[in-house]
Amino acid sequence: MAIRNIRTLGDEALYKVCKPVTEMTGKLSAMIDDMFDTMYEAGGVGLAAPQIGARKRLFVIDVGFEEPDPHVFINPEILEREGEQTGTEGCLSVPGKHGVVTRPQKVKVRALDRDMKEFTLEAEDLFARAICHEYDHLDGHLYTELVQGPLQDDVEREEE
Ligand code: NI
Repeated sequence: MAIRNIRTLGDEALYKVCKPVTEMTGKLSAMIDDMFDTMYEAGGVGLAAPQIGARKRLFVIDVGFEEPDPHVFINPEILEREGEQTGTEGCLSVPGKHGVVTRPQKVKVRALDRDMKEFTLEAEDLFARAICHEYDHLDGHLYTELVQGPLQDDVEREEE
């Protein structure tokens, strides 16, 4: 397990359409472990493969509060989107910034887990937001494209 370098705004890895994962390998499994380590170390709730330079349709999320709640999504598809939520969002690839983004309140997702077994999951609130945010990374999109109003510096938020 290791902490990977997180690519930031302007790095070309963040703007590519990622490719489906075809098989689970030891190397890929180790990369998933590294993605969790990297995300936890950076204090994030989600991390997509392109953020560490891997052009793969894969992301990890943990929006657990008191207990860890790690989820791996491989080749995800968002099947349903319902409602709206407007709130603050940030990204480990856009350090020190946040902005207001409107996302679906609920989503239904189908993906493969790290054993390449298919699952379907319904998520709402922050979990739904994180899934939409990470899903966009797989198509080379960042939340900065969706921000309503200017991007804010995190320092300002702490001073409010
Ligand atoms: Ni992000």
